[in-house]
Order: sequence, then C-alpha cells, then structure tokens
Amino acid sequence: MFGALLPGVDHLPHTHDLDHNAYSRGQPAWGAHLADELGNIVALHDPSTIAAVIVEPIAGSTGVLPPPVGYLDRLREICTRHGILLIFDEVITGFGRTGHPFGAQAFDVTPDLITLAKGLTSGVVPMGAVLAKGDIYDAFMTGPDEAIEFFHGYTYSGHPVAAAAGLAAQAVYREEGLFERAAALAPRLEDAVHALKGLPHVIDIRNYGLIGAVELEPVDGRPTLRAMEVFEACYEAGVLLRCTGDTMAIAPPLIIGQDELDQVVDTLATVLRTSNRECDNTPRDQSVGSGSLHRRASRVGHERAFRRRIRSRYRVGQPSRLSRRSRRYVGRHTCGARSFPRVGGHTGAVACTGNVPVQIAG
Ligand SMILES: Cc1ncc(COP(=O)(O)O)c(C=O)c1O
Repeated sequence: MFGALLPGVDHLPHTHDLDHNAYSRGQPAWGAHLADELGNIVALHDPSTIAAVIVEPIAGSTGVLPPPVGYLDRLREICTRHGILLIFDEVITGFGRTGHPFGAQAFDVTPDLITLAKGLTSGVVPMGAVLAKGDIYDAFMTGPDEAIEFFHGYTYSGHPVAAAAGLAAQAVYREEGLFERAAALAPRLEDAVHALKGLPHVIDIRNYGLIGAVELEPVDGRPTLRAMEVFEACYEAGVLLRCTGDTMAIAPPLIIGQDELDQVVDTLATVLRTSNRECDNTPRDQSVGSGSLHRRASRVGHERAFRRRIRSRYRVGQPSRLSRRSRRYVGRHTCGARSFPRVGGHTGAVACTGNVPVQIAG
C-alpha cells in the first residue's frame, strides 16, 4: 500500500529483537550479522548503483536502538569494500549524547559523512551541518578559480545568528565539560532505568550514554496508546519525556543533575505502577459519545486532545508561560529566556532537543 518515501532507497532490517536483545545494557551482544543484509542488497543492485548507506549510530525515533556489538563495523567494512559512502546521522548522537563527542567515536567507526543538527546549537536556533572526510571535502572545494565551491542555494546557509549560537554552544560544552558529564551520568541512568524492569507492561529497557528507553507492551489493536497515556501522565506530574511507538525515551539535557535524573525516572516508575490497568480497547467509532468529555478525550481522541492542549498552551511566538521553577532553572543558564519566542515547543522541548540552553553572544 505504501511505497518507499524516497525512490531508489532500500531499507536494511532493524536490529530490534526482543527474543535476543531485551534488557541489554549498552550495546546488545546479538545482531551484528544483520549488517550482512547490506551485502545481499549490494549483490542485488550492483555496488556502482549505490551512492551511500545512511544510519543513525543509535536509532532514535524508531525507539532508541543501540547498535549491536560489531554491527557498525560490519557496515563500514562492506561499504569500504564496495566503494560506497557510509553516512552517520548524528543529529541525536552528536555533541555528547553518548558520553563521547560523536557516536563515531563512541563506537569507534569512522563514517565518510556525518550529519548534525540539534546539539550543534543546543537546539535554540535552527542549524544543520555536514562533516565530510578530507577527500570528499577536497572534491567539492578544488576546481577552477572562477567556480563557486559547493554551489547551492539555501536562503539561510551559514546564518550569523545560528553560527553565533553554534559557537556559544560549543564553548559551553567545552567550558562546562558537558560531554564528560554525560559520560559520568550514564551509569546512573543505566541503573535507574533498568530498575524499572518488572513494572506493569514493561517489556524491554535499553540505554546508551545519556539515553534510556523503556518499551511498553502495546494495547491490543491500539499501538502507541499506552505510551501516549504514560507520556501525558508524566507530563502532568512535571516530567516531559518523549514517546515513540510504545517506547518511552529519556534523553535529558547534559546539564541535568543527579537528583533531577532520579526524579525523571522515579516519576516514570510511579506512573507505570499506577497505570497498572488495561487501556481501553474500545474501537474509536464505538466509544464516541460514551462518558464525560474527559473520558471521551482519553478514549477517542486522546492523542489529538493532548496535542490540541499543548498547542493552545504553547503557541509559537507567544511569550513563555513557564512555571516559577522552570524560570529559575532556565534563568540560570540563558540570557533573556523569559522573552524567548516559542519556537516549535517550549523550554522543556529545548531541554529535550538540545543539550543546554545557551546565551547567544556576538
Ligand atoms: C536522527 C535525526 N535525524 C534527522 C532529524 C531531522 O533534523 P532536522 O529537523 O534538524 O532537519 C532528526 C529530528 O528529530 C533526527 O532525530
């Protein structure tokens, strides 16, 4: 029914397999052989027709999947053998999230290109970047004198505001030792999330660096509903997590304190304990009209109702309405955050998406 979103793209199998990988701490031991499917794809299409292989070192939106031990090495080896570029999408794993500057260093595999965003400016101003190996860089940057190098036409390329935010973020990372801080906090996050094993509906727990994930058993016929309910309950309790599929993802800012980290995981634990009930399985069309508005919202349009509420609370361009506690927290780390326009979310989202709120200087 659905074709590939990009034409001419093949997908490798993912590495998520609860029978073999459930409750792995860090990299799963099982799954490196799944990279060999790339060899089959190469044989099918002929390597000369394949420009590149792109992976996230730790798959994020698909539910936080640390790479099995040896998996990325095998991809690298196959790409090198066939002259195919290996690209790491490090939009999530870049800038300290793994306890190393980049996932490439965490897993000791060097790609040909790295794509970056989020942590580049700590998410406070939009900016993306591509890192390239020397020979690729040279191919673009050497040519006739009169030719423009890497000719392309993005309106906002190298925007000074984004560049200033990027420089400021890099300075904060360095001065506050935030990558090291992530590495130091990682074992605490690992222990805290794995302590949730056995709570209602928990079917897997995964972690790497300052990322944790708790996968929940989906409600029969209603994938994503359980995670959305847990997400909302955590939010109401003052903790903004992310849910993707039926997985709760924890990726706190690198400046998070140990107590705050405990608070995040404790809140999730409390919500999971108290949500020990079967989610309502009533099909949407049958449940309309039953019960109070609130019950209907949670049964019928739970997600939609929640998103509506978030949208009305946090409108783009509106001055922020942060709690006093959030204001104090943000005020310590930013300049003028209170008058920040809301850009696609609120300060919690900034903290979630970026690593540290930064002051834009210069
Ligand atoms: C791994 C990954 N790659 C790419 C993107 C897209 O990045 P951007 O929105 O900066 O284009 C995202 C966004 O969440 C992401 O998580």
